[in-house]
Amino acid sequence: MEKGVVYPGSFDPVTLGHLDLIKQALTIFDRVIVAVADNSGKKPAFSRKERIRILKELTEGMPGVEVDYFSGLLVNYLRKKKVNIILRGLRAVSDFDYEFQMVLTNRRLAPEVETIFLMPQEDYFFLSSSLVKELAELGADLSTFVPANVEKELKAKLGRK
Ligand code: PNS
Repeated sequence: MEKGVVYPGSFDPVTLGHLDLIKQALTIFDRVIVAVADNSGKKPAFSRKERIRILKELTEGMPGVEVDYFSGLLVNYLRKKKVNIILRGLRAVSDFDYEFQMVLTNRRLAPEVETIFLMPQEDYFFLSSSLVKELAELGADLSTFVPANVEKELKAKLGRK
């Protein structure tokens, strides 16, 4: 039977760490649904549409990857997609509290849903979308953090070339 996983996140912007995790997930799952959260409260740098477009461009050559979005509760989205596994990336220990809280909350809301964690390659262990945005604002070289097109679009948005 085909096994699918939902990889949810803000992806604002998608980093090389996210892409690494998607590639890892493809070695385990037949179908990886990258689900962009429509978290309007967060004031993202990229709109939902832009984040979806960028993710689609970057995963075009990866069979088994689907890019979608969700709003509302993540577990409701999983039920709709008939998938019962959530994938999250776990980096440094500092991720743990937040991720642990999410796992327990989602488990309370939907006991049939399990969360699994994959660790990014060490090159991306400290990498986060918020760090990337801060560096983009300061005009730093982002080539080892995000794909080239993301760097270009992000810097265009944040006012640096
Ligand atoms: O990339 P992020 O910002 O760490 O992703 C967090 C995300 C979007 C996965 C999380 O905030 C989420 O699942 N939001 C949907 C609302 C929800 O279901 N909340 C209950 C679980 S804490």
